[in-house]
Amino acid sequence: MIIVVGSINMDVCLNVDKIPVPGETVMAEKVSKNCGGKGANQAVAAARLGADVIMLGCVGEDENGDSLLQSLEMSGVKTEYVMKVPVASSSAYICISKKGDNSIVVDSSANRFVTADYIEKNKFLFADAKYCILQMEIPVETIKCVIKLCRTYNVKIIFNPSPLSEFDIRLIQGVDYLIPNEIELSEIMGKKSDSLCDNDCIKFLKENEIGTLVVTLGSLGCKIFDNVNKTVFIKTKEREAVDTTGAGDTFLGAFVTAISERKPIEYAANFANIASGIEVMRPGAQRSMPTREEVEYEYNKNFN
Ligand code: RIB
Repeated sequence: MIIVVGSINMDVCLNVDKIPVPGETVMAEKVSKNCGGKGANQAVAAARLGADVIMLGCVGEDENGDSLLQSLEMSGVKTEYVMKVPVASSSAYICISKKGDNSIVVDSSANRFVTADYIEKNKFLFADAKYCILQMEIPVETIKCVIKLCRTYNVKIIFNPSPLSEFDIRLIQGVDYLIPNEIELSEIMGKKSDSLCDNDCIKFLKENEIGTLVVTLGSLGCKIFDNVNKTVFIKTKEREAVDTTGAGDTFLGAFVTAISERKPIEYAANFANIASGIEVMRPGAQRSMPTREEVEYEYNKNFN
């Protein structure tokens, strides 16, 4: 079983000609509401691909909360332990440009109730889990509590350091898989993203006792570093992106699904590249995530 501890957001998506820079006002061409949140997105991506996933997080006692729970459940995510709290569900305000890229502001509201106390109350769930996925849209104290529980129950930790606010390097030390994008990694390492080289990444991985580092590179694919000096660049196919919201989350959910099935790491990376490649060609986060059949069809077309 995979436990996902994280955010559950209603995404308010604004399609714009171009994302505004500071001081600029632009007009939205279309406004839509889609289910999102990094935690929930990763849970949905994995469950839709066939993984056994349980979500720990909070939604508000409102209409958005009901829709968010429904979206998780329809994809097969177990939501029995998702807590309803007496505030508004969290929202994310997303500007999406014509090229499909975005800028996001999250209003955390219900996500703030994902506390260490709430996790402690549900800690028995970790006894049956093999993997735990974490991101950073919930309080940092909760993340620390989850990491401690994972170590107690021997659950492998997959850490997606996104968004990077309140970052403390100790959070990621000793995790089994660290999956940042290249901007997040360069910020963590205190370097410019264009100056990151493989040797720096391997040194960083060793110094911080990280099992495997998977750096996502957007439309280029990903790079995998492990603690036996192996570096592999896994390219991906170019896509006509309409909306990249949730692409990283789809990659993560798909990658963990394949790893949890004991697939080789290169297979997992290719599988995840394909899943996120399909996701960016459709609008919205959870609603655009692919099924197992779709990903396997493309995998077989490309690799068999
Ligand atoms: O990673 C994409 C997600 O980030 C969106 O769905 C939004 O809710 C924000 O959390």
